[in-house]
Amino acid sequence: MQDYIVEMRHITKRFPGIVANDDVSIAIRPGEVYALLGENGAGKSTLMSMLFGMYEPDQGEIYIRGEKVAFHSSNDAAAHNIGMVHQHFKLVDTYTIAENIVLGMAPMTKKFGIFPCVDIKRANREIAELSARYGLEVNPTDKICDVPVSVRQRVEILKMLYRRAEIMIFDEPTAVLTPQEIDFLLQIIDGLRKDGKTIILITHKMEEIKRIADRCAILRRGKLIDVRSVAGTSVQEMANMMVGREVSFDQNKPKADFGNAVLSVEHLTVENDHHFPVVRDVSFSIRSGEIFAIAGVSGNGQTQIADAITGMLPVSSGTITLDGNVITRMPIRSRAREGISYIPEDRQGMGVVMDFSLQENLALREYNRSPFSKKGILQFDRFREYADQLIGRYDIRSGQGAKTQMRSMSGGNQQKAIIGREIEEHAKLIIFVQPTRGLDIGAIENIHRQILDERSRGAAILLISLELDEIMKLADTIGVIYNGELLKTAPAEEMTSQEVGRYMMGVKEA
Ligand SMILES: Nc1ncnc2c1ncn2[C@@H]1O[C@H](COP(=O)(O)OP(=O)(O)OP(=O)(O)O)[C@@H](O)[C@H]1O
Ligand SMILES: [Mg+2]
Repeated sequence: MQDYIVEMRHITKRFPGIVANDDVSIAIRPGEVYALLGENGAGKSTLMSMLFGMYEPDQGEIYIRGEKVAFHSSNDAAAHNIGMVHQHFKLVDTYTIAENIVLGMAPMTKKFGIFPCVDIKRANREIAELSARYGLEVNPTDKICDVPVSVRQRVEILKMLYRRAEIMIFDEPTAVLTPQEIDFLLQIIDGLRKDGKTIILITHKMEEIKRIADRCAILRRGKLIDVRSVAGTSVQEMANMMVGREVSFDQNKPKADFGNAVLSVEHLTVENDHHFPVVRDVSFSIRSGEIFAIAGVSGNGQTQIADAITGMLPVSSGTITLDGNVITRMPIRSRAREGISYIPEDRQGMGVVMDFSLQENLALREYNRSPFSKKGILQFDRFREYADQLIGRYDIRSGQGAKTQMRSMSGGNQQKAIIGREIEEHAKLIIFVQPTRGLDIGAIENIHRQILDERSRGAAILLISLELDEIMKLADTIGVIYNGELLKTAPAEEMTSQEVGRYMMGVKEA
């Protein structure tokens, strides 16, 4: 038996203005969980895209089970039993799960002995079996549009299994999941490993690496820094190697200086499309200089509160007041003008134009105002200066600076750009939903500092996060939401994370 199932030797991949992978060599043993760690833009996705046949390396060689391969497409990789779950899933909404899985590779039967046609019954049965065997809890006849993100991800896993993948690449699979779903996924990965699969896991979360990985390769700015056994390496060491300096996990939060109430929400009720209340009689207010955090398990109404405040969702009853003005029925745009800035969970859907440059995207909110536009003429030099400032402040890394096309940037750096742009509005009220999802620890540290700076400036901040650590670190006041209701609201220093956790599970009195 071969020592290594995958070997990538001296791989170099260049993009305009950047060496995304610089002479990287890794070797992966059959049956291990191999983690890839590195800052946003370090080259993790690029390296794995080459193993999956989506890009070809400029230099270097790939060996699978000791045999040299040259992949020209992901079908070539699949033929060598390699599968990949991308961060953005590639599923067809209107098809069933089984149809999605067999798309392009159906079990054929010949109807009337001539026409090949898809044997969907057989596919349903086989997929149900695979699902049961690996504990995936997926029903093959459900439609994709009816199932949540966590199930869609497991459909991608089934797709790999169905195509007989033995080497499975996961690109930041946990970034889209809640803490409970993460536990479930890690169990599934463990089951796959026990069944002899080889797993490559890209993640920014070091606890996950600690829990499940055997070895960990650390990339920094395209270069391989080291490969460590996970058992013998501390989280702090991993973090330091990744960033290239000592990383501090503690943030010192300046003393609070609260002003007047900026936002008041009174008796807010929001209904879903089926007239079912998803936010029930919620009241709270946020003062200038205050971070009010809503803690809760995903799907308990927290994003609907944010959508109601920004005007994306209609309010059934209750009142929303911003700086003394009732805005309950005001159009979205006017609310933004009145001083609300919003960073929603789905960042793609909020005015990012993938085919535009970074500088155009950064100025998207401002382009028709001075100094970006004078007498109707766009001032491109100003765009450039402004973008360069934000690139520095938010450490946005890319191949060609302000001129880089948004689409070509790494996932985490796209996130940094969008978050930076919204913070720079310096609004009265800033709403953050999962602000640090997909970011590396250095970038998280930086975004947390920027949020605290906005607080010191006097902004009112609504923070909605599934990460309890993030809430405990930043919040001045915590409201715990359960089933659409605020079960408990209290100053952050009066609650421990255990107590918050209990309220999140719907336990009213401890
Ligand atoms: N198609 C492309 N065209 C141009 N540049 C690219 C392309 N794909 C990636 N890059 C650049 O290569 C570098 C590495 O990107 P990659 O996506 O591999 O990073 P990553 O480590 O996966 O980061 P993240 O944690 O943010 O996902 C980035 O600077 C990115 O801008
Ligand atoms: Mg990536």
